[in-house]
Amino acid sequence: MRGALLALALLAAGPAVAQDATRGARLFQENCAVCHGAGLRGDGPMAELLVVPPPDLTRIAARYDGVFPRAGIAWKIDGRDPILSHGGDMPLFGFVFSEMSEVIASPGGQTVLTSREVIDIVTYLESVQE
Ligand code: HEC
Repeated sequence: MRGALLALALLAAGPAVAQDATRGARLFQENCAVCHGAGLRGDGPMAELLVVPPPDLTRIAARYDGVFPRAGIAWKIDGRDPILSHGGDMPLFGFVFSEMSEVIASPGGQTVLTSREVIDIVTYLESVQE
């Protein structure tokens, strides 16, 4: 009986997605700052070696008419929308291959399945838009 109640309580809690911008910030510094810069301005130590300059990631919303395209950005990070400097369709970042078990939605309603890590990074990026 207690078990059943607990199961009910868990069901009622629903599939709430934990979005951890602090963890996203740490993952960003570990995996992305080398190119995009610790302050996200596109001025990391590797930037000058790249053919295509890394974009300023605080201006994503500004580049997309003021709407931060969460799902589209998740695709760019996990490699399904391949970015050559990220390793194309074989991303440099091992964590994106961890369990693809979370859904992320854009304001327009587009949804995609991705990993917790990618969601945390997208949440962090969204929180620093200018
Ligand atoms: C080896 C250098 C490098 C690393 C490491 C890197 N990026 Fe990039 N990133 C780039 C470059 C260069 C571009 C622009 C490529 C293009 O426009 O074709 C880019 C583009 C992007 C974009 C697209 C921005 C937009 O406005 O559409 C996002 C988002 C992004 N990177 C996030 C990340 C994240 C998050 C990480 C870490 C998980 C990361 N990048 C790691 C070089 C890098």
